[in-house]
Amino acid sequence: MRVLVAVASRHDATAEIGEAIGRQLTDAGLEVEVLAAESVGAMGAYDAVVLGSSVYMGSWLPAATKLVDRFQIDLRERPVWLFSSGPIGSPAKPEGDPASVVQIAKSVDAIGHRTFAGRLERDRLNLGEKLVSAAVRAPDGDFRDWDAVAQWSSEIVGELVREAVEA
Ligand SMILES: Cc1cc2nc3c(=O)[nH]c(=O)nc-3n(C[C@H](O)[C@H](O)[C@H](O)COP(=O)(O)O)c2cc1C
Repeated sequence: MRVLVAVASRHDATAEIGEAIGRQLTDAGLEVEVLAAESVGAMGAYDAVVLGSSVYMGSWLPAATKLVDRFQIDLRERPVWLFSSGPIGSPAKPEGDPASVVQIAKSVDAIGHRTFAGRLERDRLNLGEKLVSAAVRAPDGDFRDWDAVAQWSSEIVGELVREAVEA
């Protein structure tokens, strides 16, 4: 079973979550390709898809939403899991799933969507991002929860194995 893990990321925090998911799926014996969302050329080769994006101003990055627009039918025909990386701080804020992503999950009939805490490091940000972060007093730091990522990845493995056995 071939699984695509596609990720849209500006400053690598989400890309690294995608890589961690990819490693766990690979360790479970699945054939996995981890790609930047903008590099996905076709869906035909994949039996399942995990698609993630960081969240900026309440929305996924354009590379991720474009991928959904381009491949909506293909995604609806496959098991799909979505994840977002965004909330920062302890406790991580904003709470809950971004409304725009809930709509995307519906549009591709996703099996699940998970929002993971993110990372904000001022040194990596462009000027506009620095100004926005300062205005909302966003805290600096890496709040990613690798245990939560690992647990979600093993749920995906469980579902895929179950599907393969039932097929
Ligand atoms: C300008 C700016 C706006 C942001 N807006 C949101 C937001 O609306 N919701 C959210 O959960 N996180 C928001 N974040 C936090 C980022 O999504 C988080 O830092 C994420 O982990 C970055 O991932 P990346 O390095 O893969 O781009 C924002 C960060 C910046 C710098």
